[in-house]
Amino acid sequence: MYGRRKFISFIGKASLGAAALPPFLTSCGSTSTPSQNFGQTKDQTLKRLGNLVLKGIDASDQDDLHLANGLNYHTVIKWGDNITDDDTFGFNNDFTCFIPLDKSNPTDGLLWVNHEYPNPLFVSDFNYRQYDNPKEQRTIEQVDKEMYSVGGSIVRVKEENGKWSVVKNDPHNRRLTAKTPIKLNWDSPILGKTTVIGTHSNCSGGITPWNTFLTCEENYHTCFGETIYDENNVPSKVPGYLGWEAFYDYPPEHYGWVVEIDPTDGSAQKHIALGRFAHECCTLYELEDKRIVAYSGDDKTDEYLYKFVSSVPGSLREGTLYAADTINGKWLSLDWENQPVLKEKFKDQTEVLVRVREAARMLGATELNRPEDIEIDPITGNVLVALTNNKGKNDYHGSILKVEETDGKFDSLTFKASTHLVGGEESGFSCPDNLAFDLSGNLWMTSDISGSAMNKKDEPYLPFKNNSLFVIPRYGAEAGKVIRVASAPRDAELTGPWFSPDGKTLFLSVQHPGELTTDLKNPTSKWPFDDDGIPKPAVVAITGDLIEKMNKLSQIEA
Ligand code: FEO
Ligand code: CA
Ligand code: CA
Repeated sequence: MYGRRKFISFIGKASLGAAALPPFLTSCGSTSTPSQNFGQTKDQTLKRLGNLVLKGIDASDQDDLHLANGLNYHTVIKWGDNITDDDTFGFNNDFTCFIPLDKSNPTDGLLWVNHEYPNPLFVSDFNYRQYDNPKEQRTIEQVDKEMYSVGGSIVRVKEENGKWSVVKNDPHNRRLTAKTPIKLNWDSPILGKTTVIGTHSNCSGGITPWNTFLTCEENYHTCFGETIYDENNVPSKVPGYLGWEAFYDYPPEHYGWVVEIDPTDGSAQKHIALGRFAHECCTLYELEDKRIVAYSGDDKTDEYLYKFVSSVPGSLREGTLYAADTINGKWLSLDWENQPVLKEKFKDQTEVLVRVREAARMLGATELNRPEDIEIDPITGNVLVALTNNKGKNDYHGSILKVEETDGKFDSLTFKASTHLVGGEESGFSCPDNLAFDLSGNLWMTSDISGSAMNKKDEPYLPFKNNSLFVIPRYGAEAGKVIRVASAPRDAELTGPWFSPDGKTLFLSVQHPGELTTDLKNPTSKWPFDDDGIPKPAVVAITGDLIEKMNKLSQIEA
């Protein structure tokens, strides 16, 4: 729990190396949309209403999006909906991010939504289970449908009479897919190209201080496979689960990057300087001199946490990438020029960035239990990293890692790492994934228990039932408790929590409902209960008294 003393002490700390409080939300807006409200509280006593009692819900295995009292939802958009006369909303929506068109109106803006991966049964009518050699029996038309279903969507959304809806055919509306040409923000070509084809595996993301979206390519190896190297540095190819490489000769090295999208015209670029790995998210902080710090985790078992620090203002290209040694609290430079061990193995900085996992391992980065989302606590400045699980190391329920940069300076090369929260039956959550702070600094968190282990008798996940959304209040009697406020439909995961600029709406993705379906006539979920009975990933808007109270800052002493 953070009292006023700690709050003030952080403002003091931040003013040394960064800025005062507002930039966390006004400039980086890593999860909470850039907000005027938070800045206005600087001179106020930051206290929550003392009498707010939050009543959570029990774990549920029902096929519905079940919410705590004081919350309600409506669907904003779902898979297959037309966004223009030519384009439809993609599949498996994850990260969401809202930017108002006009800062004075928080109810009209552009919503970016990631489309992470296809389920061929739904997207391309291809049932893997019916074939002995499925990859050999697919058609290019099926693969094209899958390539269209991923990437991201930009849609203009407006709130009227309490309901958010899409402005169909708004000129901003567009799709990015696995076929969209995207420039590389780098001097050297990669595998001969300076523009590559497509983005996919778009999991979580971020926002820049200059109001563009970041979408992160996570499990890219499932699409065009991966290049691996043996002990003699000889490369070979591992095929992707989806087998797109059999139809399109796009190298794996063109994926696994952070991609920036300008919402005004849909133009995109891949940021090579941030390294190539299974990027879960990319969380930015703007320093006082406008240089950028970007945190990103590699969501693969025993992989690493990274941070990029730019050397010039507003750049995601000029600067240094570091990997975290969380045992000794050191950021390890991945600069080829200054690391003899990297010079020995790799021919240049480009190769270090393309094979950055190997480079980080050589330097002694610390293996982590699958880093997922990252958020900067707007009150303490601590960097929180969800570590979802690592069954190989008997970590079934995951934890939240806390990184305290030395002297509160985000460009520091040293830090202190500790465990902030541990998953399990006692704390009430398992497998943390997405994180989001609201305008009062309460932490919202989603879980990602894998569909194959959820609600299974022999699994340690049984008591947690369906995946859920939790809130961890910062103030009052419930401070620090993990309270379940939403339960997902069957097989689904709740992803991409993002607050509207006035804090009144929580945009949330419902991803992969009915994922374990083997027969479309008998799906494991029917959410969102369309007439055709087919489950569909969708973005919902959650509103209500509970959210407004949680977000309301008060001058009343608790
Ligand atoms: Fe796509 Fe790490 O979640
Ligand atoms: Ca995730
Ligand atoms: Ca996940």
